[in-house]
Amino acid sequence: MKKIFYFLLILLAVIQFIPVEYNEGKNTTTHSIETVHHVPDAVLTTFKNSCYDCHTNQTNYPWYAKIRPVAFWIANHVDEGKEELNFSTFGDYSLRRQFHKLEEISEQIEENEMPLKSYTLIHGNAKLTEVQKSEIKDWVTALRDSFQRSYPIDSLKRKKTVK
Ligand code: HEC
Repeated sequence: MKKIFYFLLILLAVIQFIPVEYNEGKNTTTHSIETVHHVPDAVLTTFKNSCYDCHTNQTNYPWYAKIRPVAFWIANHVDEGKEELNFSTFGDYSLRRQFHKLEEISEQIEENEMPLKSYTLIHGNAKLTEVQKSEIKDWVTALRDSFQRSYPIDSLKRKKTVK
């Protein structure tokens, strides 16, 4: 028993030297969602509080988040989250992709898929209230409507290859 314990302790110490890439890039605001679209303050505050750690180029790491293996696990979530949706570069997406991602935002919060459970377990205040959810959904609906009024429908329709 003791041997296993020491082995694990040493292993834990050794893995601290494995480099981890932290998501602490510059949060350039020129292409971020709040620069390219009107985002009401309430919605933006919710996004910052509940989504930005995994869906922008800038994660706020609590102290324990830099301890391996927790750090690996978080890096993985951030990578995957950003790949699906990056609020920092939202303005670089094609119209079609923006239109579709907005719909996904509504769907994800409607189904309580986002923010991830593992995240709200630690960040209790990131959990969305019903009011926050309807604020986001109303904003999504209004913004998607304005897309449909402003752009030809063919530029918004989903192509099979576009995610
Ligand atoms: C702890 C990290 C984390 C937080 C916080 C988080 N997400 Fe995510 N999000 C992910 C990951 C990982 C994925 C990709 C895998 C998946 O769908 O589970 C994802 C995927 C998504 C997708 C794409 C889903 C799809 O299937 O295409 C949307 C939209 C999304 N998140 C919106 C949000 C919104 C809105 C919030 C805040 C209310 C939020 N996320 C908070 C990690 C996170």
